[in-house]
Amino acid sequence: MYTITAASALAENVYEAWISAPHVSRHAEAGQFLVLRIDETGERIPLTISGVDGDLVRIIFMTVGTTTRKLAALKKGDTILDVVGPLGQPTEVKRYGTCVLVGGGVGIACLPIIAKALKTAGNTVIGIIGARNKDLLILEDEMQSVCDELIITTDDGSYGIKGFAAGPLKEICETRPPDAVWVIGPAIMMKVTSGVTKPFGIRTFVSLNPIMVDGTGMCGSCRVVVGGETRFACVDGPEFDAHEVNFDLLMSRQRFYTDEEKESAAHHTG
Ligand code: FES
Repeated sequence: MYTITAASALAENVYEAWISAPHVSRHAEAGQFLVLRIDETGERIPLTISGVDGDLVRIIFMTVGTTTRKLAALKKGDTILDVVGPLGQPTEVKRYGTCVLVGGGVGIACLPIIAKALKTAGNTVIGIIGARNKDLLILEDEMQSVCDELIITTDDGSYGIKGFAAGPLKEICETRPPDAVWVIGPAIMMKVTSGVTKPFGIRTFVSLNPIMVDGTGMCGSCRVVVGGETRFACVDGPEFDAHEVNFDLLMSRQRFYTDEEKESAAHHTG
């Protein structure tokens, strides 16, 4: 059993929890994920490790289905049956020079741990975090403290620059091209935003966590075509060269699981 040591809501439908899981926290590196199962009847879900502190690991998640809703209802002192990890390949951390980390919505959750690792490796780190509106923006203070510069965007202009993160990223590429870029968020955002860096030939990574289902390499649902080759996000990723990922195929697969999620939710509430 794994105890939740802190739990809170960060924004509407977005929650944070710290779990005591020393075997995961001790080995976790930026970019990796864990798989948890709340109880014996629960499904296994993969979640990015968004922070580590001693024996504790942090997860940040959006309530999108039955399991994440159950997880959101857990409080400090509650327990989780299984926590397995760290899984997946870590972020390729090295001295690039200047790195830009772009996060959209709950995808921002993946960034601070990567930003810290890149800073420690001697990089200058520029963060661009975006959300639909001010209330949905998460981890601003944390990103502010770890990045050399932080740019904020909101779709509705309620905070920061009005528009998508792709705008300021393009401006940076034009005026002071970075050496590497990470883009993490919804698939459509990753497709559009990582497309910005392509004409500049800037190395760009995306994290394909959202398409994972069991995170163990068994279910096959995270199959993705990268550079014309079939890869598995949970084993070969979750980070891949953004310019090689077939996003259209990826998004058509995601729509399939949205239907499954709806069915599961109806089953559990009906
Ligand atoms: Fe099931 Fe990767 S998530 S095989």
